[in-house]
Amino acid sequence: MGDRMKVLVIGGGGREHAIIKKLKESKEISKIYAFPGNGGMANDAECVGGDAKDIAAIVAFAKENKIDYAVVAPDDPLVLGAVDALEAEGVPCFGPRANAAIIEGSKVFSKNLMKKYGIPTAEYEVFSDMEKALEYLDTAPIPTVIKADGLALGKGVIIANTREEAKIAVREMMQDKKFGKSGDNIVIEEFLTGPEVSVLSFTDGKTVKPMVSSMDHKRALDNDMGLNTGGMGTVAPNPYYTDAVAAECMEKIFLPTVNAMNAEGRTFKGCLYFGLMLTPKGPKVIEYNCRFGDPETQVVLPLLESDLFTVMRAVTEEKLAETEVKFKDAHACCVIMASKGYPEKYDKGFEMTIPADVADNVYVAGAKLADGKLLTNGGRVLGATAVDSTLASAIEGAYALVSRIGFENAFYRRDIGARAMKAMEE
Ligand code: AMP
Ligand code: GLY
Repeated sequence: MGDRMKVLVIGGGGREHAIIKKLKESKEISKIYAFPGNGGMANDAECVGGDAKDIAAIVAFAKENKIDYAVVAPDDPLVLGAVDALEAEGVPCFGPRANAAIIEGSKVFSKNLMKKYGIPTAEYEVFSDMEKALEYLDTAPIPTVIKADGLALGKGVIIANTREEAKIAVREMMQDKKFGKSGDNIVIEEFLTGPEVSVLSFTDGKTVKPMVSSMDHKRALDNDMGLNTGGMGTVAPNPYYTDAVAAECMEKIFLPTVNAMNAEGRTFKGCLYFGLMLTPKGPKVIEYNCRFGDPETQVVLPLLESDLFTVMRAVTEEKLAETEVKFKDAHACCVIMASKGYPEKYDKGFEMTIPADVADNVYVAGAKLADGKLLTNGGRVLGATAVDSTLASAIEGAYALVSRIGFENAFYRRDIGARAMKAMEE
């Protein structure tokens, strides 16, 4: 390689902070910009502000600042075609084009893809007519799962335990337009049971290299109580994801998905995220994401031994087969510190204290700088990640970090990793 490169990372959450910290380890990068970034990552990247959904502004910034490579991390700009727009201006990118990002952007698309190519997933029906959906619910097996077709900030999935609840969800999506156009079409699907596993993978459309598996903790409160959130903590690897399960997933899910996208003329290049459920009938796909997960990234990337920038460019250049993607033989735990009240109403603007010696292990999601002070500025505020040789010591390490970080109204789960510990004892 010749000159060192200027890299633009689109997004501004904890996931992006983890990507940026890992990219900083690369000797080939001279400068990293975050668009928009947030005040809590100002030591690691130049945060330029703006709106990650404003594709024209992203492209203009990339041109003005002679960006050599862009990483598009969030779902919205991917689905809106940020990669297509940047590539059209000659900026190589990490991330799928819009025609492949649809694998997350439309649940109707992804369910139909799985059905067409025999990829295991929950049985389902698609509805564009509310009356037909309500009628179907009169006889559908209960519990049932209602999903808005489009992106809905991770809130477009309702697990209904009664017919009445299911019908309310359908009316909210299709009649009240709770998720806007995302609810014009809905999927009603079979309720599956079993442990959930997140597998992020690198793919260049030819080769799939799965990253270390992980386990998210989606509910707000301990013992998986409370509302669904964007994720309150993660551990990696996921103990339910044995070598045998991994081999089965590669054969029945990962390769068939990449091949199916190619067959549809929608080659997927980037990070393809498989949300899996290990059901009594084998692993099934709960959802695809067209991007790194949040907060999965905050445990997966700290375990990556290979140079992230090298791997990303190998994906762009379709050279993944000959590129090593190696993970440490260790465990990671990330505990999310949120604002009390999240995911509903919460206050923000509280001053944060993050001691310098823990900052390396902290990924800031919602903060802003004001008069030199770092203030909370979101529901999920930050994640603290520890890596250690055992799961128990990684969990202990993450909570030790949390105990040294302070802000008013801080709230976090006390049991991140407890389920994984139990699974390892079984
Ligand atoms: P999502 O927003 O697609 O990640 O879904 C949120 C959560 O809903 C998932 O993590 C699962 O726990 C749950 N879920 C989604 N689909 C199903 C299903 N068919 N059966 C059981 N749980 C589901
Ligand atoms: N942690 C789940 C997601 O990123 O969608």
